[in-house]
Amino acid sequence: MAIIVNLLVLFAATILIMGNPSSAQLSTNHYDKTCPNVFNVVKSVVRSAVAKEKRIGASLLRLHFHDCFVQGCDGSILLDDTSSFIGEKTARPNNNSVRGYEVIDAIKSKVESVCPGVVSCADIVTIAARDSIVLLGGPSWEVKVGRRDSRTASFSAAGNGQLPGPTSNLDELIRRFQDKGLSTKDMVVLSGT
Ligand code: HEM
Ligand SMILES: *[C@@H]1O[C@H](CO)[C@@H](O)[C@H](O)[C@H]1NC(C)=O
Repeated sequence: MAIIVNLLVLFAATILIMGNPSSAQLSTNHYDKTCPNVFNVVKSVVRSAVAKEKRIGASLLRLHFHDCFVQGCDGSILLDDTSSFIGEKTARPNNNSVRGYEVIDAIKSKVESVCPGVVSCADIVTIAARDSIVLLGGPSWEVKVGRRDSRTASFSAAGNGQLPGPTSNLDELIRRFQDKGLSTKDMVVLSGT
């Protein structure tokens, strides 16, 4: 239980630290007037996805982690490759490994149907990660919102610059978390998920 509580606190801290490349203020009530139902809508879609397949809850947490480690929590991981653009999806740590994109798409279209053009995908990913953990029996935390979606992504930062990899040694793992303002303890606790 202690580790769970630590996780809660550290994860909340993570989100604050890696919050947003632009200087927008995040708050829990950012959508109170413009999309008061957003938290319920996200939760309902995550709930049916987890009911269908429990693992998707873990996958959505990892999607959030891999989004946040590259350019901050800005939805950059969601951008598809085009003929003139290569994003993060096919970078080594993500290719054929990160999953849950279709759940984010389903949430986005439901949110668009109730408040078009208001809620960022970056916020949706962030809320969905929290809801997943709660639905799987973990701790809860308040999600601050107001992130802006990125129009760019970084294949190279996702591939070999920022995300830790399965062949990284301990020094490298520690350094990569340190680069995000996270301690060795943060790393151990967060990886315990
Ligand atoms: C410390 C450095 C880390 C490394 C090197 C690492 C590496 C990996 C690898 C190689 C996989 C398996 C991917 C696959 O089979 O396709 C994985 C899965 C996973 N990781 Fe990490 N990870 C790290 C930290 C974290 C952190 C901090 C979190 C959560 C905040 C996390 C959450 C997960 C989850 C939930 C899965 C399972 C995803 C699924 O089943 O869809 N990992 N990780
Ligand atoms: C991503 O995976 C596909 C196989 O599904 C592979 O064809 C492609 O080369 C991989 N991309 C990179 C950049 O490794």
